[in-house]
Amino acid sequence: MDLPSTRYYGSKRKLVENIWSALDGLHLEYESVLDLFGGTGILSYYMALQNKHVIYNDIMAFNCEIAKALLCSPKGIFTEADAHDLLREDVECDYLHHVRDLYAGVYYTQDENNAIDIVIQNINRIPEEQRSSAYYILFQSCLIKRPFNIFHRRNLNLRENHVKSRFGNKTTWEKSFEVLFSQFTKELNRYQLEQLPNAQISNQSALNLDIHADLVYIDTPYFSKNSTPISYHNRYHFLEGLMHYADIPDHINYAKTNRELDFGRCREFENKLTYLDDLHQLLDMHRDSIIALSYTTNGYPSTEELRDAMSQHKEHAQVIDLGEHSFALNKDNNERHEVLIVGY
Ligand SMILES: C[S@@+](CC[C@H](N)C(=O)[O-])C[C@H]1O[C@@H](n2cnc3c(N)ncnc32)[C@H](O)[C@@H]1O
Repeated sequence: MDLPSTRYYGSKRKLVENIWSALDGLHLEYESVLDLFGGTGILSYYMALQNKHVIYNDIMAFNCEIAKALLCSPKGIFTEADAHDLLREDVECDYLHHVRDLYAGVYYTQDENNAIDIVIQNINRIPEEQRSSAYYILFQSCLIKRPFNIFHRRNLNLRENHVKSRFGNKTTWEKSFEVLFSQFTKELNRYQLEQLPNAQISNQSALNLDIHADLVYIDTPYFSKNSTPISYHNRYHFLEGLMHYADIPDHINYAKTNRELDFGRCREFENKLTYLDDLHQLLDMHRDSIIALSYTTNGYPSTEELRDAMSQHKEHAQVIDLGEHSFALNKDNNERHEVLIVGY
């Protein structure tokens, strides 16, 4: 199926059809789907295309805007002209310059930082129904301009001194916001739906969300067995910060060279030591639903431990191999398979 492109760590874009087939193979019946760790929104989007009622959730507000653009904004509401207007500085308006003043030399060039300052404040001045589309094109453009598409390191120099290597594409990083805004507006318009699906968006920690659905899809952050984990907050704090633009100066951790912002940070499911306890709590909350849990075979906890956890809350716990799937940044991709642990 033709699906929107994603640039997100752990995106299931390449796996949604396998997940769908795995559930189909078990002859499970469901009308509503709760996508608790929704990320890019790709599973919610796919399920919406299959006429399921979807509830998307993620702890990061910026991800929720991406999901809202795909699921809750009708096709045609946001045009290329609207996108280019966002880059225009209104002489009547007194703009703040938090990114230019506080992030010089960190992630983007000063021209780009200035553009981000202008766009984010212009987004707050456009009609409400266009805003998530505007955030969508800004966030996709910001991601595509970053080496590895993340913000865990201060490494603008890597981009500027780049010659050629396996991880990057200088031509893409150097594309202007004008060009990228056109590209992503076209893409968004291609995937937005004429008729809006039955979809809700929620922005909280999965453990606080008390909503029932026939099928609950759980795709938490993964831990590798050995390396120190990098949290989602650490990878994407900068985009989350843009959602709270006016408050940026009071939320920067200056002790960190990447000037990490603390908005949206939550330890639940991001701490290896308490992960299994968090998971048990979540599985128990949804014991009356079909539960599908995504994980990887070379992570912590092991597939056996996860199956065991599932079987403590559901009568049947079945592990389905979804095939090999590698992440660009993972060194230990060998023999790494994605699995779906289904409880019913
Ligand atoms: C593996 S990714 C999900 C990817 C998603 N299924 C996709 O295909 O794009 C994990 C997601 O969990 C979110 N997250 C982390 N902690 C969370 C929490 N406590 N509650 C809800 N979401 C959380 C992260 O922001 C991240 O988007």
